[in-house]
Amino acid sequence: MTDVRIPEGFDFTDPDLYTNRVPLAELAELRRTAPVWWNAQPRGSSGFDDEGFWVVSRHADVKAVSLDSALYSSWENTAIIRLNEGAGPEQIDMQRLILLNIDPPRHTGLRGIISRGFTPRAVNGLRAALADRAGAIVRAALAEGTGDFVQDVASELPLQAIAELLGVPQDDRRKLFAWSNQMIGGDDPDVEGDPQQAAMELLGYSMAMAEQRKGCPMDDIVTKLVQAEVEGSALTADEFGFFVILLAVAGNETTRNAISHGMAAFLDNPEQWALYRAERPATTADEIVRWATPVVAFQRTATADTELGGQRIRKGDRVGMFYSSANFDEEVFTDPRRFDITRSPNPHLGFGGSGAHYCIGANLARLEIELMFEAIADHMPGIAAAGAPVRQRSGWLNGITSFPVTYT
Ligand code: HEM
Repeated sequence: MTDVRIPEGFDFTDPDLYTNRVPLAELAELRRTAPVWWNAQPRGSSGFDDEGFWVVSRHADVKAVSLDSALYSSWENTAIIRLNEGAGPEQIDMQRLILLNIDPPRHTGLRGIISRGFTPRAVNGLRAALADRAGAIVRAALAEGTGDFVQDVASELPLQAIAELLGVPQDDRRKLFAWSNQMIGGDDPDVEGDPQQAAMELLGYSMAMAEQRKGCPMDDIVTKLVQAEVEGSALTADEFGFFVILLAVAGNETTRNAISHGMAAFLDNPEQWALYRAERPATTADEIVRWATPVVAFQRTATADTELGGQRIRKGDRVGMFYSSANFDEEVFTDPRRFDITRSPNPHLGFGGSGAHYCIGANLARLEIELMFEAIADHMPGIAAAGAPVRQRSGWLNGITSFPVTYT
């Protein structure tokens, strides 16, 4: 482990680091030399009561951790690998109300409530409506001539789709957008508003919606949630509210960042944009998700002493699954640093490693990405960068907060 050329004190969840870049070179170094590497942290600095965590960098090891939720718990320290500065046990307790952080068997029952809304068939049922929305989004941007791609284009379809699925009226969608931005932007000084306050407001909003649906059921996820029973009883008010929070955040931030990174990648690789415009390969959306890897890492906590990638792991250790590393693993991907929209097969782990928590919205996200780029290629194929993308300050999200472009 001593010959790893990682600078002393380097922290793979340092939010300042991600303001400039994802540490792809350092992750490649770990894959070569120390595939399960101890990332030391001053006690408490990441919001957890320990002195660091393991960085898991190889595709096979990330997958192995994902697949074993008995040995690697999501509940113990929850999944987000770096909490906002100053966070502590209270925030961890709150996070435990979210599906993402609940272990089987309870997780299985909860997930079952909404999973039917996200099957390939159900998602395909939204295709025509979302295609119309994608067209309208692009035409509105085009009329402006120039603008911020994130605000005008990338954020819109994910937001409209999740609001549609949840049953949030059109007029309230901007509120949903602002709350989800504030909840995730706690580490970014450019994002105004208090994450806890935003969560409370969204909670209040969703509970009011639940009351309304109890009296007047509709064909939406909120109605499914208020009618659902898990292990013989209805969801508690908190469980319900946090379900809505998870869907709002998970559905918005990730897909928006995939679309923004995808656009930047196309503009950096004009031959890929020309290929896309001519052929629209069905493999495009997955390559965009691999390339973007909007979630850099999620963590698990070992429930027993074990071994991973030749490294001893102790019970209670945090283990970070670095999707951003797995998706560039030379053992799995030919020429991984090449953006190649015809890449096939493409077993990326951008949506997780196929375990119990595999992204419920993967089919929806692929559809949104596909429809947005089709609309862009149809209506404004001459889109061009007018400046560099501005990166989000976050210890676990690969985000773009703004991207000046000209729409032509
Ligand atoms: C490109 C876009 C997206 C990316 C990169 C992404 C990524 C992820 C990842 C990495 C996980 C955790 C997987 C694991 O721990 O094994 C996850 C879980 C989840 N995602 Fe996504 N996601 C995206 C879009 C969406 C959308 C559109 C929705 C919903 C509308 C959604 C809803 C969820 C939910 C509810 C979970 C938790 C599932 C569980 O714990 O069982 N995601 N996503």
